[in-house]
Amino acid sequence: MKVIIAKDYDEMSKKAFEVMKSVVSANKSAVIGLATGSTPIGLYKEMIKDHKENGTSYKEIKTVNLDEYAGLDYSSDQSYVYFMRDNLFDHIDIDLKNTNIENGKAKDRQAECERYNALLEKMQQDIQVLGIGSNGHIAFNEPGTPFGSVTHIVDLTESTIKDNSRLFKSIDEVPRQAFTMGLKNIMNAKKILILANGANKAKAVYGLVKGEVTEGVPASVLQLHPDCTLIVDEAAASLI
Ligand code: F6R
Repeated sequence: MKVIIAKDYDEMSKKAFEVMKSVVSANKSAVIGLATGSTPIGLYKEMIKDHKENGTSYKEIKTVNLDEYAGLDYSSDQSYVYFMRDNLFDHIDIDLKNTNIENGKAKDRQAECERYNALLEKMQQDIQVLGIGSNGHIAFNEPGTPFGSVTHIVDLTESTIKDNSRLFKSIDEVPRQAFTMGLKNIMNAKKILILANGANKAKAVYGLVKGEVTEGVPASVLQLHPDCTLIVDEAAASLI
């Protein structure tokens, strides 16, 4: 794993953008895997700025997102599909038809997982952006998720519900289940770009980089990926 330590969040985001730009410049119809959460917002801002200033086009780019809350769709501003439009898609020239995310409102949740897995089989990510949970999760693959997992429904752990409650009016509003790409779907990406910032991520970053490769720390599977770059700020890098 290549590890880049940035001094702060802004530098982390700028360095992440350099990696993203190299992928979209090399292939105008690349498949980019995207994440939600606080961590990649700075990267998305850099992409928007570059699109506006330099005209980098996303017209032919296709996207696949990691995860979505079960029960939420675009009509909820807490949904991940809303987040992606608000933080990136509405500000670049991407065709929304080329963007993909699990349908949180699907009536048949198992069929939705199967649909998404079939889609991912046809759309190998040229790059997959990831954040990391304070418990070492990637996407919503919580500790104990098999490394061979594909898209599935998860019961969110109390620690994830608590971490994510900051974005809801109250903790009771945080959905208890989500759709998530599995670890195998993530590992299938040609290139992985994982970002982490803040002292509350330091322990998870240690597990990601230096810990034992174990299903107890889902992110540790990335040690087995042939092209994974971690960009981390100094606070999150304090234990590595
Ligand atoms: C989001 C996702 C999650 C987050 C992780 C970190 O699509 O899959 O795994 O990347 O929970 O969240 P933040 O960035 O909010 O600290």
